[in-house]
Amino acid sequence: MLAHIKDIAKEAGKGGYAVGAFNVHNLETVLGVAHAALKAKSPAIIQVSEGAIKYMGLKPVTHIVSTVAKNVAASVPIALHLDHGKTFDSVFECISAGFTSVHIDASHLPLDENIKLTQQVVELARSKNVWVQGEVGAMVGGHGEVGKKKIEIPKAKLVEVVNFAKQTKVDAIAAAIGTAHGVFANEDIDLELLYEIKKALKIPFVLHGGSGIPDVKIKKAIKQGVNIINIGTDIKVAFSHTLINTCIKNKKETDPRILLTPSIQAVEEVVIKKMELFGSAGQVDLKDIKT
Ligand code: G3H
Ligand code: ZN
Repeated sequence: MLAHIKDIAKEAGKGGYAVGAFNVHNLETVLGVAHAALKAKSPAIIQVSEGAIKYMGLKPVTHIVSTVAKNVAASVPIALHLDHGKTFDSVFECISAGFTSVHIDASHLPLDENIKLTQQVVELARSKNVWVQGEVGAMVGGHGEVGKKKIEIPKAKLVEVVNFAKQTKVDAIAAAIGTAHGVFANEDIDLELLYEIKKALKIPFVLHGGSGIPDVKIKKAIKQGVNIINIGTDIKVAFSHTLINTCIKNKKETDPRILLTPSIQAVEEVVIKKMELFGSAGQVDLKDIKT
């Protein structure tokens, strides 16, 4: 069922687990996440980047996610979220299209400009009952990059994260704490910085760059209060590697359904593993679901 992210995050906070925010790129990845949520009895956040919106179209992706959530995954809560919205216009369009949660990522701007733009988004969102995630300390890397070592993974400054959150009144905070977008040998989670941020701020913390982090670190981060974990690259890799292999093995096949079904399953498998790791698997009590 389509749910508001604030209810999903509230339950996760009470239950001491994290919810995965999974990047999707097409109908097949949406189905993979939805099937995983159903099988794992887990809430899920389905998120789209500006790039994914450009590829699928804002209306089509909004309708695909809401229709799949209402019909395919009717017994589990699923929220639709804009990931790394870079401008006021892009956030505005998603809110108008019916998203209940947006990420305004102005972390590439000087802090005062980041605060100003985020405040404008919060003001718009409040009147529409939309949740806003803000970000401090730009994340390095690119979704889908695998295997290269990043020379430097910069981290956000605690004082800036705290001031930003207090001045903007965002509903959730994302900050660079040692992870990167993609999978890199030297990414990690600075648990001390996370601890300090969580001590100072009582709002949900969103961990970006969730692919490529050792399970043990993810578990520690959840214990320290990470509430939402973004997974992008692991989904791209599962989908694309499976598709490439399927095409190599079936060079004469012309039916896209036959070529794409193994990729849906590969996404489903990866997402179920994440839900188990994050502790969100089994958290949906089917008795509580009104149909
Ligand atoms: O916003 C999306 C995420 O932060 C994805 O990061 O590609 O490292 O999983 P990832
Ligand atoms: Zn991210």
